Amino acid sequence: MFFSDKMNNALNEQIGHEFAASLQYIAIATHFDSAGLAGLAKHFYSQAEEEREHGMRVLRYVLDAGGTVAIPAIPAPKGRFKSAEECVKLSVDWESTVTKQIHAIVELAIKENDYTTQNAMQWFVEEQLEEVSSMEALLNIVQRAGESGLLQVEGYIARKGAK
Ligand SMILES: [Fe+2]
Ligand SMILES: [Fe+2]
Repeated sequence: MFFSDKMNNALNEQIGHEFAASLQYIAIATHFDSAGLAGLAKHFYSQAEEEREHGMRVLRYVLDAGGTVAIPAIPAPKGRFKSAEECVKLSVDWESTVTKQIHAIVELAIKENDYTTQNAMQWFVEEQLEEVSSMEALLNIVQRAGESGLLQVEGYIARKGAK
């Protein structure tokens, strides 16, 4: 095994965090979907897919490195929202939290002289920079547009192309 039991546990927790983020984004996508905002819905369904892939990426790393995968209980996502702003604000908070979680794993890896996990986590460190900045950009647009301007936000997402 390439890492300690402590690291194995931290990585399993991270698999849970990524899957939890995936469920949260599905819940947000559903909120937009039922409001007829297809662009925002599509954007968040695709974010949900990315988070699932992140979870799978950590999972595969645990397996490749000879660890044991144990998927933790995933808390229910928040499902009711008062506004689009609330949805996107929650998403920014999620991304900031996940960034801290990834950084904590890197810190542990440094402390344990675990070069393999340090290296594996670099992809996530970069990814979080992108995720936080694009979610903050979306929050900015949603706040400027206001609830009555959400169709313009749809246009923005369509031009930007849901990634
Ligand atoms: Fe993620
Ligand atoms: Fe993310």
